[in-house]
Amino acid sequence: MTNIAPRSLNGPPKSSIWERRLWGLRFLFQPLETIEARSQAYGDDYRVSQPDATPALVYCSSPEALEAIFTAKPEQLSAGRGNQILKELLGEHGIVLLEGAVHQRQRQLLMPPFHGDRMRSYAQVIQSITAEVISAWKVGATFAVRPAMQSISLQVILQAVFGLEGGQRYEQLRQTLSQMLDGFGSPLGAMFLFYPFLQKDWGAWSPWGRFLRLRQQVDDLLYAEIADRRNQSDTGRTDILALLMAARDAKGQPMSDGELRDELVTLLFAGHETTASALAWALYWIVSLPHVQTKLLAEINALGSDADPIAIARLPYLQAVCQETLRLYPIALSAFPRIVKQPMNVAGYGLEPGTVLMPSIYLAHHRESVYPEPKQFRPERFLERQYSPYEYLPFGGGDRRCIGAAFALFEMKLVLYGFISSLEMTLADSRPIRPTRRGITVAPSDRLRIRVTGLRPAGSKSVIPALSAYPIN
Ligand code: HEM
Repeated sequence: MTNIAPRSLNGPPKSSIWERRLWGLRFLFQPLETIEARSQAYGDDYRVSQPDATPALVYCSSPEALEAIFTAKPEQLSAGRGNQILKELLGEHGIVLLEGAVHQRQRQLLMPPFHGDRMRSYAQVIQSITAEVISAWKVGATFAVRPAMQSISLQVILQAVFGLEGGQRYEQLRQTLSQMLDGFGSPLGAMFLFYPFLQKDWGAWSPWGRFLRLRQQVDDLLYAEIADRRNQSDTGRTDILALLMAARDAKGQPMSDGELRDELVTLLFAGHETTASALAWALYWIVSLPHVQTKLLAEINALGSDADPIAIARLPYLQAVCQETLRLYPIALSAFPRIVKQPMNVAGYGLEPGTVLMPSIYLAHHRESVYPEPKQFRPERFLERQYSPYEYLPFGGGDRRCIGAAFALFEMKLVLYGFISSLEMTLADSRPIRPTRRGITVAPSDRLRIRVTGLRPAGSKSVIPALSAYPIN
């Protein structure tokens, strides 16, 4: 075996604490510009921390480094520990904070409901919720896109998790969750997640105090639902909460109420915030780029009326539009941080235990050698070639890869199909929309509003009976 001396990582020179704080703030307010400026200066894989700092913080976007990270063994890298920033929001027992065998078991439990036939059974729910929202979009009126998409994706995930169909508790949960997450919906709000010293309860009107009170309300609603379920003898339910409650660990023990609560919040949060932002971006690109809209409409019209959801999900151009949407502005700029547990070599760099690795989805998706003209929205690139999981990774990778990837894409396609086939739309404001920070993700700014200019003749066919007509269990 030849011994090649490990390369050392490039990165910024030693700087004062104030310069570092300034970079920190810049990253909060202008995340894309900040990581791009660093990558231009230091390359695909670079160190962010001080030259001699331990632990080192390293951004990775070369396919070699991403492959090494996503194929590493659990004894080499830890992911749960790096997600502490999410603990206040999701609790310590949610899947994203778990490690090792417990994490693997939880994944095996949660994957099936988001794949295959179970996932397809949500098609009617997705389409009927979409139709309800569309029916409120009247010709001549203007709508804020992200909140509308959030309302759809939140209702869909609530149905998947609880199998609920309306009702007071469902409605309260929907409203309280939205309010809680909206608190982190701006760079200023996101500071409370990134800077723990700001997490002080100064009363109900202070940002953190408000968050804590809303979180308590969400918890109360979830615990009430769990208690009701424990008292029910109905074992025929197939929703995700029923699945979690039936699960037993290696010692035959069920999940505690606290564990159930953390898993539910994780799924509700991870399962709708991201999809809502992705949908808002997709609609933005389709409405603002006439050639994309024309091509998409041609594909949709060729499918004929009463299209089957599976046929919609297989439309190649629609698929390419969704892929390109998630490439250009990936909702999560990075996959979860991975922490090195034992000395390891990543793309020729020797890394010490404790090193924090950020697999940068955004930078990987903007490498010019892989994606010519990376700032252009060009779905065709996904029809022309295939990308490796280390070049295209909107859902992360390895043993942490998003469990809702297939579900999210399915939902995106059905919702977009509903809007495009029913409505003629235009942007209310022709200025380009920039990504803005929303908690740990980025989303289109609130300026994204769409005006309905007309109804498409085909629209009538996509209006589906009210939600209550589709029992999901
Ligand atoms: C467009 C929508 C979505 C995007 C862009 C997205 C993106 C991601 C990313 C980047 C990760 C981290 C993966 C890693 O570190 O390697 C992740 C993890 C996760 N996602 Fe998603 N996601 C989306 C939708 C969903 C949906 C619909 C669900 C439904 C439940 C979901 C549930 C999760 C869970 C539970 C994890 C943690 C997995 C683990 O720790 O093992 N996501 N997602």
